[in-house]
Amino acid sequence: MSKTYLVTGGAGFIGSNFILYMLDRYDDIRIINVDKLTYAGNLENLRSVQTDPRYSFVQADICDTAAITRIFEADDVDYVVNFAAESHVDRSILDPEAFVRTNVCGTVNLLNAAKNAWQTGDDVYRDGVKFLQVSTDEVYGSLGKDGFFTESTPLDPHSPYSSSKASADLFVKAYWDTYKLPVNITRCSNNYGPYQFPEKLIPLIINNTLNHRSLPVYGDGLQIRDWLYVRDHCKALDMTLSNGRPGEIYNVGGHNERTNLFIINTILNYIKNNVDPSVDESLITHVRDRKGHDRRYAIAPDKIRRDLGWYPETPFEKGILLTLEWYINNREWTDNITSGQYREYYDNMYGVHS
Ligand code: NAD
Ligand code: TYD
Repeated sequence: MSKTYLVTGGAGFIGSNFILYMLDRYDDIRIINVDKLTYAGNLENLRSVQTDPRYSFVQADICDTAAITRIFEADDVDYVVNFAAESHVDRSILDPEAFVRTNVCGTVNLLNAAKNAWQTGDDVYRDGVKFLQVSTDEVYGSLGKDGFFTESTPLDPHSPYSSSKASADLFVKAYWDTYKLPVNITRCSNNYGPYQFPEKLIPLIINNTLNHRSLPVYGDGLQIRDWLYVRDHCKALDMTLSNGRPGEIYNVGGHNERTNLFIINTILNYIKNNVDPSVDESLITHVRDRKGHDRRYAIAPDKIRRDLGWYPETPFEKGILLTLEWYINNREWTDNITSGQYREYYDNMYGVHS
């Protein structure tokens, strides 16, 4: 049956991949993309669907109660998919309040608006509605050498970013526990792929290598992340919306643990062998470690495999090639967002960024 999706943060990395994935996959859906267009939001990612009648864009802050209520009043929204967030750990260390505002208060505002719009009686909601909170494995804290995060691992966030995401998760859980609002929470590992803002490790290293800039390695570079190809994540979100049991949490991981140095060397070697033979290891620069740096993340995505049939389909060797090729073939995308050219274009088109 045709569904209307309210996607927040759809101009960011995962949100834009999700919108493209869903419009590619389903003819009969409608997507309303609500994005504040912070530095991380880039409508250029969605240029190919800009005039698609199934897609519309509203520039708004998820903390803005009136703006969000208007959207629910104007359309029969079936699904909320909440990507909107301040998402970069390093920025959260510099400015935690911005993370509390969007990630915690913004999520609560959305939960309230969805509850008000969908409620038909005491703890009863319109059929077929769901609030999906896109969360992160970082809420579980850091692992030692062994073990994996499962859905019952206690929350132990360390950075202001992961603490804000954990707080948001608790509010989502509270709306299920208290009001029976149909919700799911997904907690995914580090995503990679096209349209990721070049402050995150993989696009930053690709961009810096292509431009002969130094490659900053925090501390010893032996921290481990579990890398998940973004399209596989989008599929997991789609399956969770359709078949996830209300109130459940699903971990989404890539079965793909790599040290940061491995990632950096993979990118450097690819560019050296295929694009620019003049780059070499001398670009690698060890810098001061991130404060409170989590050592290892790793997810056991057994529950989502068992209950929903999802598994990570893209092996790292394929995903990283697709990613490298995309950034190399779309160098102007990175150049333009770092130079602000699209920002000016979209300021003229949609009004000034806040
Ligand atoms: P991103 O930073 O690329 O995009 C965030 C988007 O949210 C941007 O378009 C931005 O303009 C928008 N936004 C920010 N504040 C807003 C506000 N107040 N109102 C409306 N829009 C606002 O982030 P991403 O990497 O695409 O991450 C999406 C979600 O997935 C986040 O919730 C993040 O916590 C989660 N997540 C990301 C990863 C990852 O590896 N990127 C891993 C786990 C979880
Ligand atoms: P990042 O992409 O910021 O994701 P997260 O912190 O959410 O996992 O960083 C991934 C890893 O790479 C993390 O261990 C920090 C490290 N890192 C560097 O070593 N150098 C860098 O310049 C960046 C941005 C990250």
